[in-house]
Amino acid sequence: MAWQVVLILISFTYHFISAQLHYSVPEELKQGSVIGNLAQDLGLKAKELSLRNFHIVLRGKMQYFGINLENGDLYVADRIDRELICGIKVSCLISFEAVIENPLHLYTIKVEIQDVNDNLPSFSKNVFEIVISESAVPGVHLALGHAQDPDIGTNSVQSYTISENNFFELEEKITADGIKFPELILEKALDREKQNMYELVLKAVDGGQPSKTGTVLINIRIHDANDNFPKFNKDTYKINVNENMPVGSLILQLNAVDDDEGTNAEIAYSLCDIPQSMYDLFAIDPINGSITVKGPIDYEDTDRYELTVEAKDGGELAAHCKVLIQVIDINDNTPEITITSLSKKFQRILLLIQ
Ligand SMILES: *[C@@H]1O[C@H](CO)[C@@H](O)[C@H](O)[C@H]1NC(C)=O
Repeated sequence: MAWQVVLILISFTYHFISAQLHYSVPEELKQGSVIGNLAQDLGLKAKELSLRNFHIVLRGKMQYFGINLENGDLYVADRIDRELICGIKVSCLISFEAVIENPLHLYTIKVEIQDVNDNLPSFSKNVFEIVISESAVPGVHLALGHAQDPDIGTNSVQSYTISENNFFELEEKITADGIKFPELILEKALDREKQNMYELVLKAVDGGQPSKTGTVLINIRIHDANDNFPKFNKDTYKINVNENMPVGSLILQLNAVDDDEGTNAEIAYSLCDIPQSMYDLFAIDPINGSITVKGPIDYEDTDRYELTVEAKDGGELAAHCKVLIQVIDINDNTPEITITSLSKKFQRILLLIQ
């Protein structure tokens, strides 16, 4: 109950002996800048001020203003940063009381602080890292961080731009509370094997006069899609192999390549579509593609072999090549007829017939 009485009393006294003044100034004025003449605006004489002990009522808060008792000027006593004092509030008022004695008068002085475009738009990071799949469909949206600008109204962020490029365009989304968000839109199909990385610059522009800008680097890494088949450098490899080559001898080193990356480029080699008997004669290393002799190769059994080799990447895409093996006869069979008396030329003909 006592509270109510006090409140009524205060408001009564307030109306009775107080007057209000209202000023409006931009933030960040130099210290000492004059806002107005209090003596004149309150209808007092400059001389009276000192005599009647005119002073600002200190409330333990920051003292942003001072009064020159010589001439009655109200001046800026400390830095006034609107963003620090009022944040994103649209209206920013600093109010304080001043008192003069004999008789006692209380004055309420309100100073409205106007926003000045003293802040740059800024992003939370220097670089935004984005990963997008090579197989992403054009039209896909990629969210980007938005810039902060503590200034208000048109002095805050108004628009975004993205650096010139052929693959991405910028769109702006507006949230329910009016915050603009930039988004990247993929315009065209990507090809990681042509370009695996894009570096773009996102710029935020505020609406001040002149406007201020803030930028951030956007690094876009293209994640591989398994869109490349392994490749042999030939369709057919023709090689000559001496018969009776020792088991384990290397006869051909294959090397298929795949333009993808990671497991999409990991190749496994195998022999395929060949008669079972040939698996006993030749082997291929699944990892490095070396073809070695596994069993006895005898010219007298057959003089040529045909292998099919498959190279398959980690994403199941495969390529094939043929390996034609010509077996070279080594004179490992004693001729059944030896005609030493014949001329060298004739001997050769006989051997060929055999
Ligand atoms: C291929 O792998 C086999 C088995 O690991 C090894 O013996 C051979 O030396 C390798 N060849 C090459 C060219 O790396």
